[in-house]
Amino acid sequence: PVYKTMFGLSELEDRIRTRFGLSQVVIVAGDSESSAQTKRELGRASAQVLRKLMQPNDVVAVTGGTTIAQVANHLSTSTALKTNWFVPARGGLGESLDYQANTIASTMAKRTGAQYRLLHVPDHLGEEAFSSIMQEPNIREIVDVIRSARIVVHGIGDAMVMARRRRLEQDVIDEMAAEGALAESFGFYFDRNGAVVHKMQTVGLRLEDIVKTEVVIGVAGGKSKGEAIAAVMRFGHNDVLVTDEAAALEIVAII
Ligand code: BG6
Repeated sequence: PVYKTMFGLSELEDRIRTRFGLSQVVIVAGDSESSAQTKRELGRASAQVLRKLMQPNDVVAVTGGTTIAQVANHLSTSTALKTNWFVPARGGLGESLDYQANTIASTMAKRTGAQYRLLHVPDHLGEEAFSSIMQEPNIREIVDVIRSARIVVHGIGDAMVMARRRRLEQDVIDEMAAEGALAESFGFYFDRNGAVVHKMQTVGLRLEDIVKTEVVIGVAGGKSKGEAIAAVMRFGHNDVLVTDEAAALEIVAII
């Protein structure tokens, strides 16, 4: 409703789109960090973008987080998407239930009449546990579905905020901070240039899967996330960014 008024949001969209070579940028007015209404608008706008990009038989992998939960809350369709699948992008990362990727994938499927598969394993595993879990036929099957996703929808966070939210060990956090970790997305941590610092083994989407994914949609807003969003865009594998005005103004100030 109040989109694209005061600050020339479409001009901001164009600047960010060309700077990062994205195919689409959508900016909603306001700051989703200080306004719950803006966060809902961010979810609504992203849900629309996702619906337009979805094709029959697509597998859509989603991350967790409060922002992607808002996307799920606004996803709707006039005809049931019976041939589509929603899956979590990663295993459990220690988020609270409402914001886990599994919960969000099932909400999206229920709201659209699509199907879903869940991944009930923690994402951070030791070598041995990792290789034995990956030999389980049931796990292997869902992991293969996840890695075949044509569309990925992911949140973006501040590295230190997310590291603490996921209760990473202090020495790991210190090491990442020393390496310049600034942003977090899909469970990976990035420095300001979009280089991955602190890579780890995962049962879900690996970096090489994300690089190959046809449609990568990032959704994140709020003034304090501007730098983190720019860092993930520099990683260079996004196609679409849906953000808010407050984050967009921070992004254009540093690009
Ligand atoms: C996580 C995603 O669950 O949510 C991350 O896996 C993202 O990619 C984070 O950084 C963002 O959370 P929020 O609550 O700020 O949207």
